[in-house]
Amino acid sequence: MQNTMARRSTTEDDITADVLRRIDATPDPRLRAIMRALVGHLHSFVKDVQLTEAEWFAAIEFLTETGHTCTDRRQEFILLSDTLGVSMVVDLINHRKPGGATESTVFGPFHREGAPEMPAGGNIAPRDGRGTPAIVSGRVLDPAGRPIAGALLDVWQADSSGRYDSQYADSDDLHLRGRFHTDAAGRYLVRTIRPVHYTIPDDGPVGRMLRATGRHAWRPAHIHFVVSADGYEPVTTHIFDDSDPYLDSDTVFAVKESLVCSFVRHDAKDAAAAAFAIEPPFDTVEFDFVLTPRG
Ligand code: BEZ
Ligand code: FE
Repeated sequence: MQNTMARRSTTEDDITADVLRRIDATPDPRLRAIMRALVGHLHSFVKDVQLTEAEWFAAIEFLTETGHTCTDRRQEFILLSDTLGVSMVVDLINHRKPGGATESTVFGPFHREGAPEMPAGGNIAPRDGRGTPAIVSGRVLDPAGRPIAGALLDVWQADSSGRYDSQYADSDDLHLRGRFHTDAAGRYLVRTIRPVHYTIPDDGPVGRMLRATGRHAWRPAHIHFVVSADGYEPVTTHIFDDSDPYLDSDTVFAVKESLVCSFVRHDAKDAAAAAFAIEPPFDTVEFDFVLTPRG
């Protein structure tokens, strides 16, 4: 007897619905929603650009190399997410802060656990002889402007050559990192060097992607902070130097206007030099962090 049941062929018009039907059995509803959207967008993308087989394979090779470039000191996938603006979209939709609260920005791949606890005024750059000494100070406040005592500031930055300690293959030392607490008036004080602009690691597939798309790899000068306190939402952020030429073209799209501040040069033995017990020339910069109550 002849089989009258016609077997359906997959066509470019019905394959997306077919894949989505199979995903419908995903027990976790959030995973189901994410997978449905992912498949839908991926199929639309492939059709939209009419992806060739050679281009599909180039993408597979690019992602394979991105994985192979990752080590315990380098996370090329985060770099890819950062340079495609994906990390900042995740940041922006997850940290819609009330006005006045300190805005967040990318975490980046260079944070390390275990930075030393430092007293107010502690120097996180004792071995950087080339950078301009800088004093970073301010307060940690609640939304009503009241000081938060005992807040923790985890601080890290690149050295005067624009490199983080973990980028030096020959050393495991922690440098240009410290953890500071605010005093009873909510004040903090960090001694460091003025940050410089630097290029993100661009000797791998992400660097190739940047060059192929006519982009540079520069980040404007900044200092990283994670500021936390009991009962408040922690904030992962940077402060940026307002004189930096790359403020409008940060390769990871992380600049927010509210985080840009002015470094002030001191060339004489002025009141600040006396207050901070520091020899000129040096720079000062002030920034107040405002945390929102948890929940
Ligand atoms: C950073 O600022 O440390 C950073 C952020 C994103 C990508 C690379 C570096
Ligand atoms: Fe950085």
